[in-house]
Parts: sequence; structure tokens; C-alpha cells
Amino acid sequence: MSATKQRVLDLAREHLMPHRVDVWRKQGTPLVIGRREGYRVWDLDGHELIDLHLNGGTYNLGHRHPALVETLRRALDEVDVGNHHFPNPAAVELARRLAELTPGDLRYTVFATSGGEAIDVAIKAARHATGRRVVVGVEAGYHGRTGLSGAVGDARSATFFHSEQPGDFVTVPFDDAAALERALATREAAAFVLETVPATMGFPIPSSGYMRAVRELCTKYGAMYVADEVQTGLGRTGPLWGVEAFGVEPDVLVTGKGISGGLYPIAAAVLSARVGGFLRENGWAHVATFGGAELGCRVALAVLDLTLDPTTRTNAGAIAERYTTGLRAIAAEQPFLRDVRQLGLVMGLRTTHANGGVLLSRALYDEGVWAMYAGFDLSVIQWKPGLLMDAASCDLTLARLSAALKTAQRMGEERDAAITRRTGVQARG
Ligand SMILES: Cc1ncc(COP(=O)(O)O)c(C=O)c1O
Repeated sequence: MSATKQRVLDLAREHLMPHRVDVWRKQGTPLVIGRREGYRVWDLDGHELIDLHLNGGTYNLGHRHPALVETLRRALDEVDVGNHHFPNPAAVELARRLAELTPGDLRYTVFATSGGEAIDVAIKAARHATGRRVVVGVEAGYHGRTGLSGAVGDARSATFFHSEQPGDFVTVPFDDAAALERALATREAAAFVLETVPATMGFPIPSSGYMRAVRELCTKYGAMYVADEVQTGLGRTGPLWGVEAFGVEPDVLVTGKGISGGLYPIAAAVLSARVGGFLRENGWAHVATFGGAELGCRVALAVLDLTLDPTTRTNAGAIAERYTTGLRAIAAEQPFLRDVRQLGLVMGLRTTHANGGVLLSRALYDEGVWAMYAGFDLSVIQWKPGLLMDAASCDLTLARLSAALKTAQRMGEERDAAITRRTGVQARG
């Protein structure tokens, strides 16, 4: 390891993220990103990786897309963050476009600097609009780590920080309309928060009957349906928003990550006239100095233009199809790949080993692909190519996957055999 990289890791252990540094080292993926361009990143030591993690879609359009860099450069010549007490031209234009581009009659936008903060806004606004406190999420759901977002879905982190809010936050199993109805029937729920295709669960695709039921049950029992589109929005599932693939219209749509172009932090909660009612009553009820920063809004507008460009959409569709064909062929030959879940460019590859996603992440890293396992289902690796991926890179990642699957399977078998030798207990993979 180079002295420069070693120093970064040492300082990270000393001052930034001691636990994480150890976890990455143990997993064999101690990445420190240096150069980055398009869908490639280079470790400080020079190891080149095709990025299929995209930091959850933050780099949906690639790293440092030249048009976005140019937009930010030009914006820096003219404006700064702005003053959040007042509207700015880029923020109002972006809010107008989001109202126009989101399904149904979503009307107002509250800007934030992270997806978690935007989810907090959605919850606060839904509570104010309904006069109710309870928030329903799905088990193993993930919506960020701020106060309210961290309490929705999997709340282990909230509990860790003694910030769980029992009674106010409840969970139901994913894709289970009957359980959702039981939770909403009390008529105490202000909102149901659902990531359209849940990333940390390994991207299980919801049934369209479930998605329709979500909309109908929320309407029936007076709860606001909050669609978390932080990872599934911006063309990643095919249409601009994941909910459009299921023909449902939420009361709130939250976007983040990719809307920043990977260049300037911005996220947004887009609210119906009813949920956004607080904005008409109390203009300072939610404020954030950097929410709706003028620089970020300029970049986000360019992100929308690029995402909606017909060539981008055609390319994304073609690459999604190429992966469908390629992954099908690999799965037919390698039973270690148990299941391919795919909606557009949002994919989860489920292995037969309980830890297969982690093993595969390591094997892919060595092969020159950066992809991450699903946090709450370690048997799955998230496979997230960007909208502008080219066919040659697509084929390269498929070839590398094919090789990595063999390595990961062998690593899993060896590990299980070692456990059996040590404990006398048959490891179950
Ligand atoms: C689906 C989803 N929602 C919300 C968030 C939170 O976003 P942020 O990290 O910007 O707070 C994430 C982040 O990973 C996410 O994947």
C-alpha cells in the first residue's frame, strides 16, 4: 500500500471512521477514491474500478459529468449559496419543474441537503396536515439517519442512539397489503413511508397489486403516502420516477442523491397542496440555511435536463436490456446466482449464500468492479449501473461478474468448511 493511502487510512482510523476502516479492511475492500471520471474510479493506489454502486445513484450520470461541472463552474462565476429566507430564480424554476415532472398533483417543494432531511420534512408535513403522529414504515426499510428518518423502518440505529420513538413509529412487512391495512385501520397514521424498490433489502420488486393497495389503503384511512425515490428516481427504474412504473401517485415524493449530479448537495420533498399546507400558514416552520442553495439548484436543473434527454433515456433502456440478457445467461450457468431482481437499471443479485453479497463485493473489487451488498440482506449484491453506461463497459462488468461469482462461491465454501472444522457445526451458507 502506498504511503499516501496508508496515511489516509491511519487518519481515518484516528479521527473519522475507526470502525468502518476496520470493516473495509476485513472485507478486503479498503477503497480510498482518488481519480474519478464517468463510471470509473481509481483507488489512491491506482486500482481501477467500474462503479456499479454509484453511491446509491448519486453518480447516476457518472462522476464529474462535463456538462454538470460546467454548469457549476458557470454558477460559481455568478452566484453563491443564496439566502434561504428568500426565493431565488434557480430554486423556483426547479420547484416548478418538479411539480410538473412528478405524478399527480404534487405542487410544493421543500429543499434539503440530504435525503434523510427531506424524509424528515415529509413526515413533519404529513403530521401537520393530518394532525396525527404515527408513521408506518416497512421492516428493513432505510430512509436516512436524521432524527425522524432514522426512526422509520429498521430502527436499530435510532435505538443505538437512544432516539427510538416507540408507538410513534411502527413497521409492517414489505409487499404485505393485509399487514399494512391492519396498521392503517387505527386511523392514527399520518404517513406510510415506502421506498419504491427497497435498496437495503436487496431491491425486491413490489407486486403491482401491492403498490395499488398502498395508494388505496392510504386514501381509505387518511394516511399520506410518502414515496422515497432517493434511489429509484431519476430514470433509474425506466420512467423518471419508480412509482410511475406502477402507475401510483404519492402524496409526497422524496428525491435526493442523483439530483445533486454528485457535485452539490441537494435533496427535495415534493408535496401535494394538502401536505404542503404548512407552507401557507407558517413560512418559517421548517428552514435550513443550505436547503435550496442556488448553486445546487442550478446543477439539479441541468441534471433533470440530462436525465430527460431522449438519448439518455434510449441508452438507459438499451443498457437495461443488455443486462437482462447477460445476467440471464450467467444465472443459467451459475446456480450460485440464485435470483436476478431487475427494474430498469436497479438490480439486486441474490446468491445462494447468506453472506454471498459481501463475498461477491470482495471478488468483484479484485476483478475491477465496485458494487456493494445490500445492508439488510447480505446474500444480495446491489447492481446499479448508470444511465449513460456504454455497451462495452456493460459487457466488461458481466464478464467480471461471471469470474467473481466463481471466486465468491469458493470463498463461501471454504469459509463454511472452516467454521464446520472449528465448531463441528455444519455452516449453512
Ligand atoms: C432510499 C434512501 N432514502 C433516504 C436516504 C438518505 O439519504 P441521505 O444519506 O442523503 O440522508 C438514502 C441513503 O442511502 C436512501 O438510500
